Amino acid sequence: EYSRKKKLFQLHLEAAQYFSRQLLHNDQAKPVREYLQRRGIDAKMIETFSLGYALPDWDDLRKTFLVKYPAELLLQSGLLIKKENGSGEYDRFRNRLMIPIHDHQGKVIAFGGRAMEHDAKAKYLNSPESPIFHKANTLFGFHQAKDAIRRTETIVIVEGYFDMIVPYSHGVQNIVATMGTALTEQHMRLLQHVKNVIWMFDADTAGIRAAFRTLDLMLQYGREPRSVILPPGEDPDSLVRKVGVEEFQRVIEEAPLLLDFIRAHIIKKYDINKVEHQIACAKEILPIILKIQSEAVRNIQIRRTADWLRVTDKSLMEEFKKIAETGK
Ligand code: GTP
Ligand code: MN
Ligand code: MN
Ligand code: MN
Ligand code: MN
Repeated sequence: EYSRKKKLFQLHLEAAQYFSRQLLHNDQAKPVREYLQRRGIDAKMIETFSLGYALPDWDDLRKTFLVKYPAELLLQSGLLIKKENGSGEYDRFRNRLMIPIHDHQGKVIAFGGRAMEHDAKAKYLNSPESPIFHKANTLFGFHQAKDAIRRTETIVIVEGYFDMIVPYSHGVQNIVATMGTALTEQHMRLLQHVKNVIWMFDADTAGIRAAFRTLDLMLQYGREPRSVILPPGEDPDSLVRKVGVEEFQRVIEEAPLLLDFIRAHIIKKYDINKVEHQIACAKEILPIILKIQSEAVRNIQIRRTADWLRVTDKSLMEEFKKIAETGK
């Protein structure tokens, strides 16, 4: 078990170095180097994130690595895939910009690969789960960001690889990405000593669904995350390039509570001048608030919700109190 992991770490390190050499020196990688330049990623960032390139061939890495590593290990890492008919295996990552994923100590444990052709079936392809890679407890960029996180006592959480890399290169270094998923229980461990959590997600359906789940989880852990919900069509990468880093920082510093965003999002669906709507809306919001660990904070938020819903009428207040106590 221990030596298996050690071999996988070694393999991933060598693979990262291999992809990196292709990106920097192979003629076929010229369009990829131009692509990075267009996206504002300079040589220093290529080095900081150990970016690389997987050539278009089906067996480029295979030929190079089978000499040194057993096929079985290469298959377990996901760098090779077993052929369905016939024997042998082929490269998983082809014609992709390679983004190494590190553990918190800086060891390469997996890769994300961004397709370089426009009609690729999957824009991003990740390594599969392995003894050294568990997506649910990995935050992309944590290794590069951890000093800045400690210094600022703040962590900014975004969805995508470039949403982490590009703001980082502009100087916002306390930033990590979930790789397209919601936050998990396992992630909470990485956040437990960080004072401020800023959730910075797309304003689309997936982003809002993830925000609900994340709020739920955070409240259960006694956390009060703040959030920046991006304007439609923007992501952190595009936003920082559009508005500049000062404005980007300002938006982060002034981020309201995620709970306020969620509450406003729910209230929008209702006409709170109608009593039935006030009640239905309370039934949607209060169960979330009941997850707040601190009684004092919980009471403040119940009070605030009553204000937002303009619950003044006495009998309505009774009904509201009942929901606030039972969630029903
Ligand atoms: P760019 O076009 O490179 O700027 O990508 P993006 O990061 O803006 O991508 P998007 O908003 O579509 O997705 C956010 C994150 O979800 C990505 O960075 C990936 O981690 C993940 N993701 C997106 N598309 C795929 C996919 O097709 N497969 C997998 N496994 N993950 C994806
Ligand atoms: Mn070749
Ligand atoms: Mn999105
Ligand atoms: Mn993007
Ligand atoms: Mn995006």
